Amino acid sequence: MKKIIAGNWKMHKTIPEAVQLAGAIAENTDVSARVVDIIICPAFIALNSVSEKIKETEISLGAQNMHYQENGAYTGECSGAMLKSAGCKYVILGHSERRHIFKEQDWEINTKVSAAFREGLKPVLCVGETESERDTGLTNNVIERQLKTALKDVDISNIESLLIAYEPVWAIGTGRTATPEQAHDAHEFIRQLLYAMYKDASQSVPILYGGSVKPDNAHDLLLQPNIDGALVGGASLKADSFIELVNIAATE
Ligand code: PGA
Repeated sequence: MKKIIAGNWKMHKTIPEAVQLAGAIAENTDVSARVVDIIICPAFIALNSVSEKIKETEISLGAQNMHYQENGAYTGECSGAMLKSAGCKYVILGHSERRHIFKEQDWEINTKVSAAFREGLKPVLCVGETESERDTGLTNNVIERQLKTALKDVDISNIESLLIAYEPVWAIGTGRTATPEQAHDAHEFIRQLLYAMYKDASQSVPILYGGSVKPDNAHDLLLQPNIDGALVGGASLKADSFIELVNIAATE
């Protein structure tokens, strides 16, 4: 499976800054992009401009969230069709910041996953436990609940468009990374869950690791058999560190 490096820019970068970062990434990853899938996920407002900037490149565009309705009176929201029209191929769903800060519920994430498939977007479904859930031995229970509810009634024919990101909440933006062994165990568990649900079709689903991925820890994480790439926050905001991550993935 081709490794994937996805940058989640969160609520950073004005439109000119986003376009500049996208340009710097594009100029310096043309060789690696042949062997690594590169995805960048700017804020809604910068999607269209960044899309223009990367349209002649191998880089793909993703959004960080979407609403599950096709349209309607949902002030402040964006639909899947809007994201598609801005050039998006991917959409991050169920990110822990959405779950914990904005109180997104499992059922909502399930509806968004279905809506993304309906619109022809590839969801990057995020799952992961909090520190207290890990400390009380609930890691696998949480992953299983989040995965199974988010994928409830999802048709097997959509599975080839699905990506999963395992992001332990305690490792996001904290500088603490899961050890390669902890990440490996969670990814293996996710792989088993997907297999139980979708059998052989599940083998094509990439499982990314996210949580303080940086150039100095990426190599060991990406070496793990079930880690198919990384979803990167902080280190995706500077061209140098993101390019370095792409180049590391290209050598795995
Ligand atoms: P981080 O964020 O790399 O800054 O920990 C990852 C994410 O939230 O996707």
